[in-house]
Amino acid sequence: MTAVGIDAIEIWTGKLRLDLPNTFAPEMGEDPEKYTKGLGLESSSFPDVYEDIVTMGANAAKQLMDRKGLTPDDIGRIDVATESAFDNSKPVSTYIAGCLEQVYDGDFHHANKGERKFACLAGTQSIDDAYNWIKAGRNRGRAALVIATDTALYERDDPGEATQGAGAVAMLITENPSIVELSTEQGYGSADETDFLKPNQQFPSVDGKRSVQVYLARMREALEDYESVSGDTHPDDFEYIPFHTPFPGMVRKAAVLGYRHMTRDTEIEDELTSEIGRQPREADFESREEYTEAIRDYMDDLKGMDQYREWYAETIEPTLSISRNVGNWYTGSVHIARLSALRHALERGEELAGQQMLVGSYGSGAQAEVHAETIVDGWTEHVEAVEVEDQLARRYDISFDEYELVHDVHNHEKEVDVEAFTTPEAEFVFTGWGRMNERR
Ligand code: CAA
Repeated sequence: MTAVGIDAIEIWTGKLRLDLPNTFAPEMGEDPEKYTKGLGLESSSFPDVYEDIVTMGANAAKQLMDRKGLTPDDIGRIDVATESAFDNSKPVSTYIAGCLEQVYDGDFHHANKGERKFACLAGTQSIDDAYNWIKAGRNRGRAALVIATDTALYERDDPGEATQGAGAVAMLITENPSIVELSTEQGYGSADETDFLKPNQQFPSVDGKRSVQVYLARMREALEDYESVSGDTHPDDFEYIPFHTPFPGMVRKAAVLGYRHMTRDTEIEDELTSEIGRQPREADFESREEYTEAIRDYMDDLKGMDQYREWYAETIEPTLSISRNVGNWYTGSVHIARLSALRHALERGEELAGQQMLVGSYGSGAQAEVHAETIVDGWTEHVEAVEVEDQLARRYDISFDEYELVHDVHNHEKEVDVEAFTTPEAEFVFTGWGRMNERR
């Protein structure tokens, strides 16, 4: 069977940086440690005044096409995943294709373009669509370009304001990929939820605390569903587990839930039993509430155990380094978690070919997807080529007053004229809603 998966990745971060503990927290009258220790965040990326989801997506895609030496003829499909779309008819992929056609010979006339929406999950769903298209033999030898691009902004003074971010991830999906091969097995947890939504509005209505619980419930269901096809999982099966990361503190909660689930009925549970008891079994409780409470207590104890802490440090912590410095990229978030892990492995000279990652994607509304990926030979060259640190370091640090202006500039209901903080460097720039973006 032909392997299909991710052949190349590129990112484009919003070009502004907001320091959360030192700039944002004091102005909000909050303890900086809520950010660094609680949410696990150092800073957020924001788009400069000439950036939006189209320019960030097009700039990431151009970097990817240039690095891989591709022309439009090599691409048979462009899917954009976003929850920040501004056009209810034309997909964002057409705007991005329009940008790219300004700089390449040839065009995307014979490529299938679309826009995928299921909150933050849509990036992974677009990869799934590309995988199915290639596996079905409909790609005529061409690759799929998947672009996850978002400006994750919340209403001013909404608790979500702490977890904002902006950036794009472009990924090339091909046969015989150079980074990871996707497995055929997937698990889903899906239910109609209203904890986070944007009905005819730019900024989300969020019940933040509930959104955390819904994320965890759907992720647990997806893991169970995944195991129904893959067989039981064990923590040692996976080198890294990138989760959707709205903020690293969310992943701390998902990780302990995953570890608890994967260690049930294993030698690890036996080892832990003498210290924190056996995991509660539902059959031993009279009500679901009592069982849930007991599981919660067990997980609190588990967090303090050496076995868990070592596993977390090796398998989860490395997935968080980019997110910690850019905030939430919504659809791109789980994909920068994967990239963080691979960059970490590269720095440590780990030989990962043949090893597996378990990827936990999530979108509010709500659905989680769990699938496994196998890292393939040659991955190092393609991960090393992504300029992560340089891009993050080049961002312009904004003050709180500047942050307020930037937020207003990107608020579709306000019309404010603000000078750019940075200068475009041969990149696509925003020139107006629904207009062709230019390269400057
Ligand atoms: N020192 C150390 N830790 C501190 C602290 C301090 N001084 N002050 C607070 N903390 C801790 C808190 O204990 C808490 O940690 P735990 O959850 O582990 O207890 C954490 O910092 C956050 O503090 P609060 O709960 O008080 O923060 P908040 O009321 O401002 O709300 C939030 C946090 C609900 C996540 C809010 O930022 C929010 O609504 N965010 C947007 C929604 C979101 O991201 N939801 C995630 C799931 S949905 C999803 O994943 C989809 C998506 O991308 C949006």
